[in-house]
Amino acid sequence: MLANRIKLIPPSPTLTINAKAKAMRAAGEDVISLAAGEPDFDTPEHVKEAAIKAIREGFNKYTAVGGIPELKEAIISFVQKEYNLKYSQEEVLVCCGGKQALYNLFQVILNPGDEVIIPAPYWVSYPPMVLLAGGKPVIVQTSEENGFKVTPESLEKAITPWTKAIILNSPSNPTGSVYTKEDLEGIGAILKDKNIWIVSDDVYHKILLKPELKWNCIANLDEEIKRKTFIVNALSKTYSLTGWRIGYLIGNKDVIKAATKLQSQSTSNPNSIAQRGALAALTGPQDFLEQWVAAFRKRATYLMDFFKKIPGIRCFEPEGAFYAFPNVSSFFNLKASDSVKLSEYLLEEAKVAVVPGIAFGKEGFIRISFATSLETIKKACERIKIALERLSR
Ligand SMILES: Cc1ncc(COP(=O)(O)O)c(C=O)c1O
Repeated sequence: MLANRIKLIPPSPTLTINAKAKAMRAAGEDVISLAAGEPDFDTPEHVKEAAIKAIREGFNKYTAVGGIPELKEAIISFVQKEYNLKYSQEEVLVCCGGKQALYNLFQVILNPGDEVIIPAPYWVSYPPMVLLAGGKPVIVQTSEENGFKVTPESLEKAITPWTKAIILNSPSNPTGSVYTKEDLEGIGAILKDKNIWIVSDDVYHKILLKPELKWNCIANLDEEIKRKTFIVNALSKTYSLTGWRIGYLIGNKDVIKAATKLQSQSTSNPNSIAQRGALAALTGPQDFLEQWVAAFRKRATYLMDFFKKIPGIRCFEPEGAFYAFPNVSSFFNLKASDSVKLSEYLLEEAKVAVVPGIAFGKEGFIRISFATSLETIKKACERIKIALERLSR
């Protein structure tokens, strides 16, 4: 009955946990979710006002498929300021979220059998998107010791004549690790004279948890690397606009033209009203972001202190985004033999929802989102502590 392509992609393990958490809440149970992938802060008022104004002004019709020129210009200025890189309008496509930017890209660059190198742990949607485009995800495992970053050596080993692209995601979902300039230079040296696209997923680039840290994009290394790189970014996480669905793809103009054509035959333009909101977000005041990041930092510090107090948990200190990815494998036993079972146990026993590491291609870990208030995190931590103690008894 169904097309083969949809059978290629597995059901998301996160859905099992989320569906269960929702059902428990509906049944009146006090479930805390640490599974959210979006900021808990509300959309800034001036962004909301710009969207309301757009509706009132009658900006309710189709727009240019690839986004309104004013928004493309605002994105170009933003990228020039943030990345110190120059692009033109024909190198930019505004999409329905960073997700569509990635989806469009893989659809237009992959032929059957083309390989895409994906360092694990990875964001859950990369492998399904590659599969749906007829490509083959090539998973390269990283380790806690290397800060969950792909090394030049492991990257080189994974490259074959069929390698078409590599995905880099910094800060990373789910680990919070951030590539330094030196890390990127090492990767750039391997990719330098190869015909491989680089996909730089930068959706968390404004959320850095260590003040001394500087964010870097591989496209900055040199002109050749820039030509091979696609920047994927979005307003979703930075401006708390997850539901508005505005993201963008920047890079080679022929690929952008093809992705725009694909978008013209699929979703058409991103929502007109959201585009006006996005324009206000990019061109308006940015000071709220500092407060949000300060709150994320406080929560990350609390969580790291908490993990240190629990024998058996080891956690890489997140440098960006709003996730912690603790190693919980020492708690695995007959009752909770893997990350899915442990997450289910925490949901049932502690009434706390977390995402199993295997959803991100890494067994032995769980992802804890701190995009929720410190009070809620503290309450959840107390519950987790008691449940884990009970499990190891
Ligand atoms: C690493 C990563 N890339 C891309 C996205 C997609 O973001 P958007 O909501 O803009 O589609 C997400 C969302 O969770 C993400 O975590």
